[in-house]
Amino acid sequence: MLLLSGCGEQYVQTTLAPKSDFGWMIQNLLILIVILAAIVFVVVEGVLIYAIFRFRGRPGAPLPNQVHGNTRLEIAWTIVPVVILVIIAVPTVQTIFAAAEVPTDAMNVRVVGRQWWWEVHYNDLNITSANELVVPVGQKVSIDLESADVIHSFWIPQMGGKRDVVPNHVNNLWFTPEKTGVYYGQCAEYCGTSHANMRFRLVVVTQDEFDNWVKTQQVPATPTTEEAKRGAEVFAQSACVGCHTIDGTAAKGTSGPNLSHVGSRKALAGGIMDNTPENMARWLKDPPGVKPGSLMPNLNLSDSDISALVAYLESLK
Ligand code: CUA
Repeated sequence: MLLLSGCGEQYVQTTLAPKSDFGWMIQNLLILIVILAAIVFVVVEGVLIYAIFRFRGRPGAPLPNQVHGNTRLEIAWTIVPVVILVIIAVPTVQTIFAAAEVPTDAMNVRVVGRQWWWEVHYNDLNITSANELVVPVGQKVSIDLESADVIHSFWIPQMGGKRDVVPNHVNNLWFTPEKTGVYYGQCAEYCGTSHANMRFRLVVVTQDEFDNWVKTQQVPATPTTEEAKRGAEVFAQSACVGCHTIDGTAAKGTSGPNLSHVGSRKALAGGIMDNTPENMARWLKDPPGVKPGSLMPNLNLSDSDISALVAYLESLK
């Protein structure tokens, strides 16, 4: 009962509540195998328990009838497992091939694993983002996975499947999200100090919302308030520009996340915290304190510069 209580809630990273065709392929296999395994378990344990009680030694009982071999039984317990394994093998192999197929009718994105965040490129739309993949519901998405440093693993449990992200090699993962919502992902291969902080969000929206999102992302965002404009100056004069790109400005660095529309994202710092002004300030004050091993150093910014930077970055919608 204690173990079963773990199934009582819809956890955000559950693998048992698929929300995509790919997830269902795997779920259906799992259900088939669990049912077959349960039948085998009940039959084998049932016969075992029956034999233990029916044939147990009793005081004074004579020696049981001594037999050797039973051809019929032996044929049966060879054939039955073969049939069960075939029933499992056929759909399993079919699913492996279907899962490995690289679709041609899908929206293509490129996701690059980096220590410890994810870079997202919409090649056809000329959009670069980080730690967040926005896609329209019902649209098959094909993700080419690359690594800029070590081996990572890309995993959004509710979409199903998990793919290693390997340097100098492109792996592919596809799925069709079937329900709008925000789904949590996680790097699933140990990749260094902040492996656990290498998270990801999949944002599934309606086609209209997606079209609007694309339009906004393709135009450089500009700061409006005085504080945000001051933040833009602080940004331009600090080390930030060496690592980050902000469209429409002189910042063209590529070793850190593209911040052109960072204000529109749901999460910060490899997806570990919600994108709020408070969290942004916390992050800017001491990145390695928030994400151990972070390649973004502590720039020892003054509180006043941090508050201007927060205003600026949050205005980049
Ligand atoms: Cu990247 Cu673990």
